[in-house]
Amino acid sequence: MLLLNRHPDHRQPLSEEDAATLGLAGADEAERFLAARDNHAETPLHALPALAAELGIDALHVKDEGKRLGLGSFKALGGAYAVMHLVLEEAGSRLCRAVDVADLHKPEVKAVAAQMTFACATDGNHGRSVAQGAGLVGARSVIFVHSGVSNERVAAIARFGAEIVRVAGDYDQSVREAARVAAERGWTVVSDTSWPGYERIPGLVMQGYTVIVRETLRRLPQPPTHVFLQAGVGGFAAAVAGHLAIMLGEDRPKAIVVEPTRAACVYETAKAGRPVTIAHSKPTVMAMLECYEPSLVAWRVLSRVGDAFMTVDEEDAVAVMNRLARPAGNDPAIVSGESGGAGLAGLIRAAGDNKMRAALGLDGNSRVLIINSEGATDPGRYAELVGMAPEEVAQARLPA
Ligand SMILES: Cc1ncc(COP(=O)(O)O)c(C=O)c1O
Repeated sequence: MLLLNRHPDHRQPLSEEDAATLGLAGADEAERFLAARDNHAETPLHALPALAAELGIDALHVKDEGKRLGLGSFKALGGAYAVMHLVLEEAGSRLCRAVDVADLHKPEVKAVAAQMTFACATDGNHGRSVAQGAGLVGARSVIFVHSGVSNERVAAIARFGAEIVRVAGDYDQSVREAARVAAERGWTVVSDTSWPGYERIPGLVMQGYTVIVRETLRRLPQPPTHVFLQAGVGGFAAAVAGHLAIMLGEDRPKAIVVEPTRAACVYETAKAGRPVTIAHSKPTVMAMLECYEPSLVAWRVLSRVGDAFMTVDEEDAVAVMNRLARPAGNDPAIVSGESGGAGLAGLIRAAGDNKMRAALGLDGNSRVLIINSEGATDPGRYAELVGMAPEEVAQARLPA
């Protein structure tokens, strides 16, 4: 299913506040904070000419976020960055002087951080980032996980010293429970989704993601004409499409938002023209995209810079994981977790359908950008879905 954006705000400039969140200064700060982290290497950008030829387009590039900060997903950029930012802000106000990222290890800043507790709900990846950020600055973290989060994913969060709270129900219920308990205890919620009255911190999380665009634009031989972006609550797609729009203006690529058919809250929101909560369906293999309510900030951005919204099926996601693991021609192999390749699944669907090709203007001149948003963040599940032995997965996960 493909829906073109017919919202009255489509192609309007971002609101002043969203432009500030996703603009140059914020992206600069996100990169500066990232550079201060130990394992901050830029992630690879791969060209896949064989797959591009097969899809009848000029070029296909995949930015591989599976290699980000040892956490296995782009989420490493958001939650941890917001935690660092908030600790510096609090330290600045308590110490009555400006403090910057270089001061994070000073005893007086550490003392402030030690009194702060950061909480969030997660499907897995965001919680890992918040826990890592809190560990980095010496703060406490409490991460709320719903019943569908695998034990392997929970263990990966707990490894950073986070306390884990299991919540009965789904992601949206865990978001509400995290907000409720945090309000009661005076903790700071670092959520990757936003709701009325709670926008600034999710905005910071999205600001962290803009690093992906910066690194990509520096490496690409020519700017892309299309970008296919997977969405859960929409924060990732909005950050990438929003920063691309700010950087490239009228020359920005068409942004196509891709979701699982079983959890297409952004698609339904675009159809309704306002944020909607969708009915629950069966769980999707694209577990990180299983969200039923869009982020308010994300929708505000996507209503302007999202050009089309589409869905992909369970088998599309699994097929992409296998295709990236065993590529055609000389294309590089890429480890892409269950949710990581949904954008590519969207491109493959669209490229194989004449009506969609025409609607999106996909042709032999198109240069498409895809972001593999996660590697094998749940190695057991990955091995099962691509038919690899666990030892092979361990090898495949080695940094490039
Ligand atoms: C691997 C991966 N890809 C994409 C997304 C979607 O991000 P968002 O929820 O901001 O739309 C997530 C969210 O957790 C994720 O973990």
